[in-house]
Amino acid sequence: MTTANLDRQGFTEYPISDVHRLIEPGPVVMVSTFDGHRANLMTNGFNMPVAHGALIGLIVGPWDHSYDALRSTGECVIAIPSIDLAERVVGVGNTSGRDTDKWRRFGLTPSPATVVRAPLVAECFANIECTVADDRLVDDYHLWILRGERAWFDAAKRGAGEFHHRGDGTFSANASTVDLRDRMNKWHHLTR
Ligand SMILES: Cc1cc2nc3c(=O)[nH]c(=O)nc-3n(C[C@H](O)[C@H](O)[C@H](O)COP(=O)(O)O)c2cc1C
Repeated sequence: MTTANLDRQGFTEYPISDVHRLIEPGPVVMVSTFDGHRANLMTNGFNMPVAHGALIGLIVGPWDHSYDALRSTGECVIAIPSIDLAERVVGVGNTSGRDTDKWRRFGLTPSPATVVRAPLVAECFANIECTVADDRLVDDYHLWILRGERAWFDAAKRGAGEFHHRGDGTFSANASTVDLRDRMNKWHHLTR
């Protein structure tokens, strides 16, 4: 079949430079690092699961102070905030640990992790202690493959749930849940 003469069905072209806004993947997270002297936080919207077994892909670039700590220690914590923390999370992503103690400035509380020296974020409902599993794509794409080592969850802090960056400073919250577990015939083992 050729599509050359088919009706465009209402589609107009979308800017190719903005397509990340359509597929902005995981929840907005904060990344906690410890450089040997000070703990720091950054905000991250480009993240995704890479494999079952806690492999996580995360974009952290050299424009971030956090990049140096991640490079030198090979460790971080991924902290998942609820949308109730959105304003503070955006503040964290618009200031640098080079000149700001963001824990103090944004009223966030470091809490000890067990495997890594970077602290958990007490206000977040989930925290994943991570080590760097693979840094081969960092130079080309700033893509770190992290391995979750231990994770912590506090349902009481989940509030209205995680939220997503739409790529332009607007955010969407998780809305309703559609339960289609009975249709996951090929992936039944995932639905337990
Ligand atoms: C909503 C949002 C999402 C962001 N996502 C990313 C990201 O995925 N990767 C990244 O390197 N920086 C991202 N940033 C930018 C960093 O959070 C920002 O550069 C921050 O100031 C880094 O802090 P640091 O210099 O203390 O490490 C994001 C910022 C915001 C506000």
